[in-house]
Amino acid sequence: MRGAPSAAALTALRALLGAEGCRTDSADVARYLQDHRHLYQGLTPLVARPADVAAVSAVLRLCAEHRLAVVPHGGNTSYCGGATPDESGTQIVLSLERLNRVRAVDPTGGTLIAEAGCTLASVQSAAQAVRRRFPLSLGSEGTCQIGGNLSTNAGGTSVLRFGMMRDLVLGLEVVLPDGQVLDQLRVLRKDNTGYDLKQLFLGAEGTLGVITAAALKIYSQPADYATAMVVVDDIGAAVALLGRIRDAFGDLVEGFEYLPGAAYQLALEHVPGVAAPFDATVPALVLVELAIPPALPELAIRFEEFLQAEVEAGTLRDAALAHSGRQREAFWFLREHVPQAQTRAGASIKHDVSLPIARLAEFVARSTEALARLAPGARIIGYGHLGDGNLHYNLSPPPGVAAGSAEESAFLALKPAVTRAVHDLVAELGGSFSAEHGVGRLKVDELERYEDPVALQLMRRVKHALDPEGRMNPGKVLR
Ligand code: MLT
Ligand code: ZN
Repeated sequence: MRGAPSAAALTALRALLGAEGCRTDSADVARYLQDHRHLYQGLTPLVARPADVAAVSAVLRLCAEHRLAVVPHGGNTSYCGGATPDESGTQIVLSLERLNRVRAVDPTGGTLIAEAGCTLASVQSAAQAVRRRFPLSLGSEGTCQIGGNLSTNAGGTSVLRFGMMRDLVLGLEVVLPDGQVLDQLRVLRKDNTGYDLKQLFLGAEGTLGVITAAALKIYSQPADYATAMVVVDDIGAAVALLGRIRDAFGDLVEGFEYLPGAAYQLALEHVPGVAAPFDATVPALVLVELAIPPALPELAIRFEEFLQAEVEAGTLRDAALAHSGRQREAFWFLREHVPQAQTRAGASIKHDVSLPIARLAEFVARSTEALARLAPGARIIGYGHLGDGNLHYNLSPPPGVAAGSAEESAFLALKPAVTRAVHDLVAELGGSFSAEHGVGRLKVDELERYEDPVALQLMRRVKHALDPEGRMNPGKVLR
């Protein structure tokens, strides 16, 4: 049984870490205790802030000795409460923020070794400094940390071209629950030496060990981007467009983001200065982006011709091409600020689902029908990374419902039924209830409900093999 840390355990941790290496005052620990969405408010007796892998190892050894639970903590941008301690006040928070060095960059080999506490933006900058790029791209990239990106197998806007975080990893350094360091920090592209152990820790959300560093893949930079915002009738038309763009431009498509008209309207209403390339009444938009390779400068012209032909043929209603870097940024600003617009519009019921792309239109049609019955008048703001099949399928209350009102509470009370309907349909259509945001604490029940029982049993066996006392991020992913 785990209990509250003894005074001796806390004294030992303080002595190990020194003043800079730990925080215990309530004002100092407050920022580690609430998740990004304000779903959870935890407690902790101590936040450990080790500065290197040896110190992380020493902390975990000491926690093992005293049988303390440990909650790894990165940039605190989890959507599922994955980095927040529970309310018991017994769990040690382990912040990786001081492990923030880029240890090595090799532009020729295409590799970069970064520590877990580096922000995603700082890794992108380190790659840019050697005329390469690290392609993971997320709205929260200035704040989120690589350790969290690895632990949650983050996705974002370029997954259709480069895959998820998992696909960008060559090697890992991990501290195991007993303090041993698993050194798999290899930069090899070919390495067939038994089980690929690093995969266990990617997406495990800190429940099996603590990732302290990763060898990442970096790529050549495009010479430029060809970016357009286009108007389509609906999600089916957007999927058909994706097919035609792939036929015409192959793997040069790096972004394909879908915004239904309702998402566009929310952004226009709630985000000052947002771009308005079209009338607010358009049915749906797609942000399309191609990377222009250095040897293919004429691609921008081909893309413009392609869009023109589409509009003339009536397969697209309209198209606006970005004619400058600033215009491109304005299109992305619009896309990236949809979540903020929805938050400003009041309470919402969120889902992060993925489907086989061929079934997206069926999913939207059937869920729209079901939700009209379950939550009459609610606005479905189903936007996101259509190019990889991931929709943030969120609901806002009917227009005019005031924050804190009885109507808003009544809307939020529908969440269990709404989420059940959405996730059941996703499961029926071969999709996932957690595309890119992870399981954390929020979706533990969903994992139990929808995961294949054999897979669930294997997950529990793996967890037990690595963390038999269940001390690593308890209550997250698995119960
Ligand atoms: C996004 O794609 O905008 C995020 O993953 C979802 C969100 O912030 O709600
Ligand atoms: Zn997303």
